[in-house]
Amino acid sequence: MASGRVTREVNEQQSTKKKVPLFPLLSLLCFTSIFLLLSQYRTASTSTSTSTSAPPTFPAACDYSDGAWLPRPARTPAYDRTCKEIFKGWNCLAANKSNAPSLATWRWQPRRCDLPQFDPALFLRARAHSSVGFVGDSLNRNMFVSLFCALKTASPGPVRKWRPAGADRAFTFLAYNLTIAYHRTNLLSRYGRWSATDDGGALETLGFREGFRVDVDVPESTWAQALRFHDILIFNTGHWWWAPSKFDPTKSPMLFFKKGQPVIPPLRPDQGLDMVLEHMIPYVEENARPGAVKFFRTQSPRHFEGGDWDQGGSCQRDRPLSVEQVEELFSVRNNGTNVEARLVNEHLYKALKGSSFIILDITHMSEFRADAHPASAGGKKHDDCMHWCLPGITDTWNDLFIELLNSKINGRS
Ligand SMILES: *[C@@H]1O[C@H](CO)[C@@H](O)[C@H](O)[C@H]1NC(C)=O
Ligand SMILES: *[C@@H]1O[C@H](CO)[C@@H](O)[C@H](O)[C@H]1NC(C)=O
Ligand SMILES: *[C@@H]1O[C@H](CO)[C@@H](O)[C@H](O)[C@H]1NC(C)=O
Repeated sequence: MASGRVTREVNEQQSTKKKVPLFPLLSLLCFTSIFLLLSQYRTASTSTSTSTSAPPTFPAACDYSDGAWLPRPARTPAYDRTCKEIFKGWNCLAANKSNAPSLATWRWQPRRCDLPQFDPALFLRARAHSSVGFVGDSLNRNMFVSLFCALKTASPGPVRKWRPAGADRAFTFLAYNLTIAYHRTNLLSRYGRWSATDDGGALETLGFREGFRVDVDVPESTWAQALRFHDILIFNTGHWWWAPSKFDPTKSPMLFFKKGQPVIPPLRPDQGLDMVLEHMIPYVEENARPGAVKFFRTQSPRHFEGGDWDQGGSCQRDRPLSVEQVEELFSVRNNGTNVEARLVNEHLYKALKGSSFIILDITHMSEFRADAHPASAGGKKHDDCMHWCLPGITDTWNDLFIELLNSKINGRS
């Protein structure tokens, strides 16, 4: 899997920085203390490939998705409620959500390495004269806003707001000529309303009257031009594939088209997702700028308990879940309300295998954070247990994005 390759590279690179004679001792000490620290928070049920009697051989792969949220030492958010880009429903500090001041201070500690908090000033300097595009749904926008707010605090100079290459919005930090953009797309592929015609096509013959036409081989216009524009790209798709409120299986089903013709027999949404990824991933590989660094972000988990969003479900927790609670809520076997998080990932991993994308795996770390959604502070009729408070955990997603980006750019690959 691509993520395994990447994390190994990261670790090799870190290890070679250290001086040789001290290295085994230092790393053993370091590893032991992290292990001891983590073991206070993790339960015995987490089987480990590590044991105190048989230290692993170094360099060991660092799996950033394997770790724990620790309250101390606290993470210090780079920005606060005054960042203008924070959508009102995500501004949990301004909405007085009771745990808002503390939720962004939990720190993700991977088991075998550190995930440092990225330095916005350093990022602005290191990525001057380049361009970062987020392509995806509102969860990618949440991550984009987090990055914007962090960079804004470090770049007091003028910022140009504009809409290049189909973007919903973009900001250029003029002092650094660094642009970050958000391209809105729910399914990656183009889609729109479809109605039966009197001509009696294949779908009409099967009895379809209304639905959404999804062209699996056509990228949505909001990002088709983005590939020529950006040096760094971060994609996601997921939530809309399991959203029967819009794509109702009987009243307004997804109807997949390829080369302009309906796919017969019609596909289920999960099969359609496979087909879309099968076309969009090579499209990106072929059309991205030479040397572009491409990420695919894994699925952001929701935390509805006691029903789905439209059934009175809520997320009232004020601290991260335990390992057991995470498994209870997300294991595919339990088929709970939020099961789609891991299901979407199965599709993504399958489609990305062998590609040049770096997988930005934020799913498992985020599964713990039932406390970090706006919930009733989101200002909607129902609890928002899908998006994230800002400042919040998408700040940590950006830490990981930038860590992996730096190791890709500075590394040998
Ligand atoms: C949050 O609390 C502050 C201070 O008590 C208050 O001024 C403000 O109106 C509250 N905001 C909301 C959205 O309730
Ligand atoms: C600004 O950065 C872009 C790449 O994002 C580059 O094409 C352009 O030449 C840069 N402009 C200046 C004035 O350096
Ligand atoms: C999972 O649960 C949903 C209803 O909540 C049901 O429609 C679906 O068939 C279940 N899937 C499996 C694999 O059991």
